[in-house]
This record gives sequence, structure tokens and C-alpha cells, in this order.
Amino acid sequence: MVYAVIAAGGIGSRMGNLEKPKQYITLKDKPIIIHTVEKFFVKSCFQKIIILCPDQWVSYTKNILAKFLPENDRVVVLKGGSTRNETIMNAIKYIEETDGLDDDTIIVTHDAVRPFVSARIIDENIEAALEYGATDTVVPATDTIVESQNGNTISSIPDRSKLYQGQTPQAFKAKLLKELYYGLTEDEKAILTDACKIFSMKGYDVHMIQGEVHNIKLTYPYDLRVAMALLEDKEIK
Ligand code: CTP
Repeated sequence: MVYAVIAAGGIGSRMGNLEKPKQYITLKDKPIIIHTVEKFFVKSCFQKIIILCPDQWVSYTKNILAKFLPENDRVVVLKGGSTRNETIMNAIKYIEETDGLDDDTIIVTHDAVRPFVSARIIDENIEAALEYGATDTVVPATDTIVESQNGNTISSIPDRSKLYQGQTPQAFKAKLLKELYYGLTEDEKAILTDACKIFSMKGYDVHMIQGEVHNIKLTYPYDLRVAMALLEDKEIK
């Protein structure tokens, strides 16, 4: 079975001092998180769409879902965790307790604040996760990436043609992800940036899916202006 896991457990601190986390900001006619959930909701391959948000926002999330997606019996709202990976683990725990986990249970994890994901990206993640076990959606790096060990001077400039920027979705065989995650030491957990790193740290291949430049993550206030322009299909000035 295939599940969508929408990670909405953050508070959006880089978006500034908001009265609500950034995933609830209204863009055009509905909250960002609704735009995102709709991209998964239209796909019948998802057994459930599991949304994980901060504990105090669970009932608010249920209310906006009832308003914007009234026929939402496949949608489940749960509380997230203290880190993004803990949030994903809460979703796996729910799946295990309700439907059970088998070797081919797939989760397609996605940032609630990436509302422009395409159907093609979602489909390719599902197919590749079934075949390879783990996927990451990436785009080739456009800027030169420089590395600095001390924050003042450059220690290396890696070859840009081998660098990519990670987006989401990331899709996984859920049972394997759970086993690998709970097998990590606290030190290993501390250096995790995302769930794909768990697979690569443990020597598993992570299959790359070609992302899209407009599959942006809404992180800073400027990103909202870009998102508005994308929704209006206007040229960005
Ligand atoms: N996320 C989550 N659980 C957490 C932390 C983050 O599900 N404990 C989610 C966020 O809600 C977001 C996605 O992961 O949809 C990507 O994270 P990011 O953009 O960093 O979101 P925030 O943590 O909310 O932002 P900030 O770092 O600015 O506080």
C-alpha cells in the first residue's frame, strides 16, 4: 500500500513572527497546506494521506480540511514530532498500528510548504521507491556551492556538475526506514539532515528523481511573493 505523509510539524521560524505556522498562510484562495494536500488527494493510489502538524494545530488543521476538502475520509491528521524525522516516524507508527507494515509499504513524504509538486514527480517517486527502496527528488545545483569549515574562508569548491539540490517528495519502503532509523546511535541521529541520509549513511542507494525548479519550498517571506506569482501564472519581476 502507498501512503502520502505530509510533514507539517514545523513552526516556520524563518518566515518571521507569524500568528500561525507558515503552512497555514493563505495563498490566493486557500491555505498553503491545502494546496499541497490537494496534489496528493487527487491520486487514488494513496490509501491514506497522513498530515502531521504541531499538537496545538491538530484541530485547526481538521477544521480547514473540513472546509476546503469536505470529502476527506482518506485524510488523517496527527501530531508531528520534535524533528522532521520524528514526524515521519509518527506517521509510520500510525500505519503500523492501523493497517500493519509489510516490505512493500511505501510512504511518499512531502513538505507541507511545497505546494507546486507535480503529478509526474509523485508518480516517479512511487515507482522508484517500490523498485529501489528510497528516493529523493533533486534538481541540478544552479549556483556554485562553496564549502567552508570555519565560516570565513573557503575550504573547497566541489565540482558543480556533480551537485544537486534536494527537494521533496522523498519516498521510502516504510518498514526498512523504521528499522534503519531506530538502529541509529544518538550521535548519528544528531547529524541527520533528512530521511534520505539515513539510507546513504547505512550504505543503501537512494534513487534520484528529477525535480522541477518551480517545486519550491516556502521558507522566507520572499518565497510567498514568488508563490503568488506562480499561482497567478504571472511573470516574476
Ligand atoms: N517539519 C515537520 N516536523 C518538524 C519540523 C519540520 O514536519 N519537527 C516540516 C515543516 O512543517 C515543513 C517541512 O518539514 O513543511 C520542511 O521544513 P522547514 O521548511 O525547515 O519548516 P520549519 O521547520 O517550519 O521552518 P523553520 O526552519 O524556518 O522554522
